[in-house]
Formats: sequence, structure tokens, C-alpha cells
Amino acid sequence: MVAPKVLALIGSLRKGSFNRSVFNFYKEMAAGSLELFEGTFHEFPLYNADIQDIGFPPSVQTLANQIKAADGLLIFSPEYNYSIPGVLKNALDWLSRLPEPPFKGKPCSILSASPGKLGGARMQYHLRQVAVTLDLKMMNAPEVMISGANKIINEGQIIDEGTKKFLKVHLDAFLKFVR
Ligand SMILES: Cc1cc2nc3c(=O)[nH]c(=O)nc-3n(C[C@H](O)[C@H](O)[C@H](O)COP(=O)(O)O)c2cc1C
Repeated sequence: MVAPKVLALIGSLRKGSFNRSVFNFYKEMAAGSLELFEGTFHEFPLYNADIQDIGFPPSVQTLANQIKAADGLLIFSPEYNYSIPGVLKNALDWLSRLPEPPFKGKPCSILSASPGKLGGARMQYHLRQVAVTLDLKMMNAPEVMISGANKIINEGQIIDEGTKKFLKVHLDAFLKFVR
């Protein structure tokens, strides 16, 4: 069976990001069963309808094409002030304004990690609300909200076996969901 191609969006730009570490582990774990590649949006300007009127930035169109070509979308993101990090929301806002937004019916799941106790849960529910207007097809379960990420991830490596096993459970569910 051909491995589904899945695009990942990472809601943190920092090098030592816990969420990027989860992405890195997931990509390695999924190799062979799912082809996971990162879509970037750090070159997107802040959304401004005046820029849009001149023309969509090429970086927005590039990411949209990558999403369209993918079989699914995985979002790895932290929670900022109980919600979606601005960089990620800015990217979704740009992509949503395209004449043919790339999200319609696209299978999607969110994973979050935080040093805090709720593991980014509040961000996930805000993002699910946004997913309604984007018309993404959201996977409901399992929900991956990694709390205490500073104890579970060390120097970019997940050191907790339970978390690794749970990520595998998520991968199996997402593979079924995408197919
Ligand atoms: C502006 C800002 C707001 C934050 N708000 C929250 C929050 O509401 N909930 C939470 O669990 N962590 C919050 N944090 C802490 C992040 O979870 C923590 O910085 C985390 O390491 C960010 O993810 P990353 O490691 O992938 O960059 C916040 C961090 C920043 C910079």
C-alpha cells in the first residue's frame, strides 16, 4: 500500500521547540507507513488585505499547493495564552483567503505539547473551532495533549515510553482516518 503523504504545520518557530521534537519523533516513527513533511509559513507577512489585493505572497501559494497535494494535515502546536499561536493563526488566515482554500475535507489532527498541566488543550479547542470554517475534516480521537513536556522531552528526545506508545496509537488511528 502506498504511504499517505501528510503535511505538518508546526506552530512554534523556536529551535528547541517541544512541539517540533514531537514532530521529529512522529516523522521517524511513521516512516514507511506515512510520509510526513513540513510545510513552512515563517516567510508569510502579517495578514493584510492590502497585500492580498496586490497579490498573494508566493510562500502562501506554495504552502496551499502542498496542502492540496497532501492526503492529510497534522498540526503540532503549543498553546499561547490559552489559544492558537499568532504565527500559526496568521498562516491559516492567509491560506483561508485564497480563491480555492486548500483545507476543504482534508483529514486533520492536532497534537500539542506544553510544560503546563493541560498540554495545550485550550489551544486545540480554539483550533477546532477555526477548523469548522476552514472545513477541515477533524479526527476526534485520540487527542494528543502532552503535559509536563519539559520532563518528557530532553534535548529534543522524547524520554517517556508511555508518550511514545500513545503517539503510536495516534498514528495508527490517523492512518485509518486518512485512508
Ligand atoms: C506568549 C506565550 C504564551 C504562553 N501561554 C501558554 C498557555 O496559555 N498555556 C500553556 O500551556 N503554555 C503557555 N506558554 C508556554 C508554552 O507552552 C511553552 O513556552 C512551550 O515550550 C512552547 O512550545 P514550544 O516548546 O513548542 O516552543 C506560553 C508561552 C508563550 C511564549
